[in-house]
Amino acid sequence: MILVNELAFGVFNVSGAFFAIEDACPHAGASLSHGIVEGDVVRCRIHHWRFCVRSGTYLDERKPSCNVRSYPVRVVGEQVQIELDHKSLLKRNPKQDLKPT
Ligand code: FES
Repeated sequence: MILVNELAFGVFNVSGAFFAIEDACPHAGASLSHGIVEGDVVRCRIHHWRFCVRSGTYLDERKPSCNVRSYPVRVVGEQVQIELDHKSLLKRNPKQDLKPT
């Protein structure tokens, strides 16, 4: 997990390619970077929702409101850099985005 302006990002290494997504699970806010990674999928350790680390897509249902943001990443020397814009730095309340099913 990487913190920038109090926002947490999860960075994942998938066979040498790096990907960054917002770290807070939209279900109840658990850290996705502490989840279980299988290939390019991370499973939240609390209630097991699954997300693609490449795109941030929530994989268990077709429910775009549960996707997490993904961020462009580049490797410069030994650094993994995340590209952030103004929108990226706005704080998000994960529960705010959930819609009743
Ligand atoms: S907090 Fe992640 S699935 Fe519930």
